[in-house]
Amino acid sequence: MEKTIDENKQGEALILDNKEGNSKKLFIESYGCQMNFSDSEIVASILSDQGFNTTQQLEEADLVLVNTCSIRDKAEQTVRKRLEKYNAVKRINPNMKVGVLGCMAERLKSKFLEEEKIVDLVVGPDAYKDLPNLLAEVDEGRDAINVILSKEETYGDISPVRLNSNGVTAFVSITRGCDNMCTFCVVPFTRGRERSRDPQSIIEEINDLWSKGYREVTLLGQNVDSYLWYGGGLKKNFEKASDFEKATAVNFSKLLELCAKAQPKMRFRFSTSNPQDMTLDVIETMAKFENICNYIHLPVQSGSDRILKAMNRLHTRQEYFELIDNIKRLIPDCAISQDMISGFPTETEEDHQDTLSLMEYVKYDFGFMFAYSERPGTLAARKLEDDIPEDVKKRRLNEIIQLQQKHSLLRTQEHVGKIEEVLIEKESKRSDQHWSGRNSQNTVVVFPKEHYKVGEFVNVKINDCTSATLIGQAVDYSKNNL
Ligand code: SAH
Ligand code: F3S
Repeated sequence: MEKTIDENKQGEALILDNKEGNSKKLFIESYGCQMNFSDSEIVASILSDQGFNTTQQLEEADLVLVNTCSIRDKAEQTVRKRLEKYNAVKRINPNMKVGVLGCMAERLKSKFLEEEKIVDLVVGPDAYKDLPNLLAEVDEGRDAINVILSKEETYGDISPVRLNSNGVTAFVSITRGCDNMCTFCVVPFTRGRERSRDPQSIIEEINDLWSKGYREVTLLGQNVDSYLWYGGGLKKNFEKASDFEKATAVNFSKLLELCAKAQPKMRFRFSTSNPQDMTLDVIETMAKFENICNYIHLPVQSGSDRILKAMNRLHTRQEYFELIDNIKRLIPDCAISQDMISGFPTETEEDHQDTLSLMEYVKYDFGFMFAYSERPGTLAARKLEDDIPEDVKKRRLNEIIQLQQKHSLLRTQEHVGKIEEVLIEKESKRSDQHWSGRNSQNTVVVFPKEHYKVGEFVNVKINDCTSATLIGQAVDYSKNNL
């Protein structure tokens, strides 16, 4: 996801438009992937109907919720520090209740309640609709927990409230869970089986966002390319679907087309694509519709066939190159980004060199790079010793990061001199005289504000760049005759 997982990202207290009559205060923080941030919007929506408005002041909260990430050990440590902080506040305000949501709740289940006694409430990613009941239990003085994973829940019927929003870009989740079972990954255990959301509810949410002024939507899922709607149920049961259900099924490229046509002036992005599930028709649909952005987040994790196999990534290095070639052939200016893991068990220097040479071939626009972190319960943790010393993992990671920085600069330089359409999102962090937005390729573009406004599409001449940012000047209006 753009950015997929980032444990350095601060949790941020989220704000919800206050609902009149709501008297209780909710402080909700999110860590981890965009799906968690998106889920927190669903949680805030459910709790808004229970009398809660959000607050940014931890000290005044009646209920504190933290939406957690388990993807790497460091992500869990960050959440533990926050729990310590909440408990320090709770000692001053004993009426305050604390709840853990998301992947850590799912992974550690009742451990939080039994061993650690630091939380009142534990709720897994598929149980948010049970929050009203769980809160009633907490009010009666009992600890409450629901970590049941669902085969159907997509929250398609809940209209998320937009939290901490710039009012221009929004995330819309289209699938939940993951069936891929990459051996390093905890997600299939914490988020359960893959389910696709009813396309009609997706389009309705998109139409609603457009009418509220939003101009860009990112379709979210752990593995969006395997989206498949055929009347409900798990993807793995598609074989058993009726002929009619099969004939009217909606796959990911069809969904993209439905979205692009439903709101032809809205920009669409999506994340994340697993290479093994990305088909040619998705790339063709991207090429066909101007409002589908030319950017694909295509994690590869390693450039070594041996390691890819050990990771249960179901494609080879050569197949990945073929996919990259097809993307570049059909969409020559398509940006591509990666996720990479250094130091997976048994990784040799030769495997690492394969990763670097794969990067040289693709020359990614961006990258999100991590040292392997063993996660309890995963296949890798059960079958393989975490045998690469930390300093070796770090050194390899640094080499990967250095190379990515070189490639990012090469890629941003390619934009200099061009005129590109930018959607204005917010004020630049560095200067209140400049806007910040993104081009189709997802690169940040900064330019003088002049008379332009947030939410407008502007053609910007790119004059300069760093490895992460393009710097330019607006040249005219484009799509604003809405
Ligand atoms: N399909 C998901 C992937 C989630 S995990 C998505 O939507 O992005 C995001 C990234 O974290 C993975 O692509 C991988 O590079 C990294 N990651 C996952 N498990 C990890 C682990 N055990 N150690 C280090 N990095 C990991
Ligand atoms: Fe994890 Fe692989 Fe799914 S990285 S989220 S198991 S595609």
